[in-house]
Amino acid sequence: MNESNVTWIRGTKGPTPQLTDPSSSQTIPILVTGGAGFIGSNFVHGWLGPNLSGSRGALVNLDKLTYAGNAGNLIALAGRPDYTFVHGDIGDAALVAHLLEQHRPHALLHFAAESHVDRSIAGPDAFLRTNIEGTFALLQAVRAYLDGADSATRERFRFIHVSTDEVYGSLGPDDAAFHEDTPYAPNSPYAASKAASDHLVRAWTHTFGVPAIITNCSNNYGPYQFPEKLLPLMIANALAGKPLPVYGDGQQIRDWLFVADHCRALEAVLDGGRVGETYNIGGGNQRSNLEVVHAVCGLLDELVPGSPHRPHRALVRFVEDRPGHDRRYAIDASKIERELGWRALESFETGLRKTVEWYLANPAWIADVTSGAYRQWIDQNYGTRGGTTSAALAKAHA
Ligand SMILES: NC(=O)c1ccc[n+]([C@@H]2O[C@H](COP(=O)([O-])OP(=O)(O)OC[C@H]3O[C@@H](n4cnc5c(N)ncnc54)[C@H](O)[C@@H]3O)[C@@H](O)[C@H]2O)c1
Repeated sequence: MNESNVTWIRGTKGPTPQLTDPSSSQTIPILVTGGAGFIGSNFVHGWLGPNLSGSRGALVNLDKLTYAGNAGNLIALAGRPDYTFVHGDIGDAALVAHLLEQHRPHALLHFAAESHVDRSIAGPDAFLRTNIEGTFALLQAVRAYLDGADSATRERFRFIHVSTDEVYGSLGPDDAAFHEDTPYAPNSPYAASKAASDHLVRAWTHTFGVPAIITNCSNNYGPYQFPEKLLPLMIANALAGKPLPVYGDGQQIRDWLFVADHCRALEAVLDGGRVGETYNIGGGNQRSNLEVVHAVCGLLDELVPGSPHRPHRALVRFVEDRPGHDRRYAIDASKIERELGWRALESFETGLRKTVEWYLANPAWIADVTSGAYRQWIDQNYGTRGGTTSAALAKAHA
């Protein structure tokens, strides 16, 4: 079992432990899983604020630090008395039980997952382990914790299960957007593993009374996203003058949401969501992958006027498509808007500008996470897919 109450700070020679004292916090903490990943670290920063006076309360972050987890995302929180980092696996039942008993949180926000569709195709095992068995372990631990808790704790506790719109499958061009009653039809191993975890959460609520709420969100973008995903990959490659690999014809449509808006939605669900319900979260920003890539290129042309790679869209290469690639996702977010008063604050244009500006301001972060193992993965995933330019693609389709 890993000891909790330890903040790990990533340094050049590996992690260095710094002791913090969670008992000094005035508030009952929340427990977050996967808080060192993309959405999780944005959530942790948003929850704790830039300093103690802006904090919503103490937070314990349990993260395994897989390739996608980066303790450096949270380095600014080192030494904060309201923040505790625990290096461990959600599937470690003894550790999770210990954390629940030690910190007695009033909520668990479950972000931890294997989250990249391409990796789920190359090797699904870790997805089943973490997304399904890991969620099962958390649910069992929460169930045992609440069984032994007083009625006030049981009344207040919430398990927020952070899931994806990919569980609903793929839409045709004229189909209505996904709503909370859309039947599940997952198409990738990733989506299937998330769908399975959603079903477990639902069943543990109905059968065992675990006070859970499920959220299904569309594609996020923003700071701290690992550069294997579309947007940061395009930004990092364009800045380096490398090809911008676009799957198939680039006409796959996603509904894009700025990550801070997703995090605000999760806070709204925690504060006012109804137990046993599902809330869809989306930005109402449907864009094709190619439109997104072109928008990134346009912003880079503007923000990096001295770049030798302008116009950046000339770097676009169409590569062999992902097997079973879903064509279109779209989210109907009217339930969370109506019930909880949540609205996305960023349009796609304002959110994208903030995102590109963040990556431009943080080249060391990109250099740090795009290390040897990352390069091997990118070479493995894109190396055999070939590549063609816009002109060649248009000719082939003529
Ligand atoms: N990124 C999106 O666009 C998006 C959209 C909707 C929903 N989601 C969901 O939101 C959640 C977070 O997504 P993300 O993009 O931040 O993912 P991510 O891959 O960036 O981060 C996942 C985090 O979980 C940690 N983790 C993985 N396995 C673990 C384990 N066994 N135990 C403890 N920690 C573990 C990793 O170290 C990492 O810090 C996921 O559940 C994902 O399905 C993501």
